[in-house]
Amino acid sequence: MAQADNAADQRWPWWPLLPLYPYGRRRTLVRELIPGQLWSFEQLQGIFYVAVPIRMTVARLRDGLLLYAPVAPTGEVLRALRDLEQQHGLVRSIVLPTASGLEHKLPVPAMARAFPEAQVWVTPGQWSFPLTLPSAWLGFPAGRTRVLGEQGFPHDDELVWLSLGPLDLGLGRFQEFSCLHRASGALLITDALVAISSDPPELFEADPTPLLFHARERGDQPLQDTPEQRRRGWQRLALFASFLRPEALQVPSLRQLLDQAFGPGCRNARSYFGLYPFHWSGSSEQAFDRLIGSQQGRLQVAPVLERLVFPRARAVLLRWLRQLASGPGASELRWVVPAHYDAPVPASAEGMAQLADAIEARPWATDGGNWAYLARLDRLLLRAGVVPDRPAL
Ligand SMILES: [Fe+2]
Repeated sequence: MAQADNAADQRWPWWPLLPLYPYGRRRTLVRELIPGQLWSFEQLQGIFYVAVPIRMTVARLRDGLLLYAPVAPTGEVLRALRDLEQQHGLVRSIVLPTASGLEHKLPVPAMARAFPEAQVWVTPGQWSFPLTLPSAWLGFPAGRTRVLGEQGFPHDDELVWLSLGPLDLGLGRFQEFSCLHRASGALLITDALVAISSDPPELFEADPTPLLFHARERGDQPLQDTPEQRRRGWQRLALFASFLRPEALQVPSLRQLLDQAFGPGCRNARSYFGLYPFHWSGSSEQAFDRLIGSQQGRLQVAPVLERLVFPRARAVLLRWLRQLASGPGASELRWVVPAHYDAPVPASAEGMAQLADAIEARPWATDGGNWAYLARLDRLLLRAGVVPDRPAL
């Protein structure tokens, strides 16, 4: 779908609710994932240029469209959706498939207002830190919002819904609903599984700044645009997003930080005036290779989930994977479409069973190397009594 790159059309006025890069301007990449059946709407979200793509998936129903995990409904997004409506029928349902992913929740009320006829479905137990508020206060329209599972499921003759969790995380709960779109054989999921490639996603082609920013070794290096720099920057972003603080990363002292700031070629806002609080000591290429292992472009459990959500609940994840491998609709599974990183990823029932076996056979939620920072966080939360020992509800 050809799109003009227009700033007014990419405005997202609600960004202060979750002040993540790229703030008030959201560019959207629209791709047809499966011809005539499934579309991906991708935007960047992140902190301080640590931006990873976030995806809404649009699925065609017999009688209209379903939006799974909405992104910010900028003018650009709404126009592309109206185009799809013209061809395939109206948006019938808007689904928030996760209880915890704030980045997926915030766009929902605005998307619901843009489609006043659509039914809104939410995962139970929405967090509204620090207070638990009724969903109408969070902006979900009271008259047409329903709770997944508790009040049924949308279009359950065309879609197969399955819950991962719920898990009690102390601060709130983790739960997400996967959705098998039977017409295309695509399983839509949110955060549970990802497939990460060593090359940057297409979304960065319009503006590779976040990649070039992180490809540097120090703050006084100007941004340089080469395919190698883009690739290195992307791998570092994926490491950040996966481990929060990967092993090859050291945080320089304030003195070092200021010494390297305002260097020639860096006196501009694009390179944050040379402020770069990261120092890569080891090889980020090697750390990235360890992240994706032999999984290049294939499905794996996101490390943050393994170490912070499921460290003591691997059985819950395995049960979900095995239900996907043998439950209703399993033989129809052809693709997985996660809300982050690559999509669509080829998949099958046997592949899901193998993934479950592999996860069961390997060490789980370890503490060393790239995992050290996440492990420390987990131990801290556990010791403080914030997260429970036995998280299954
Ligand atoms: Fe997410």
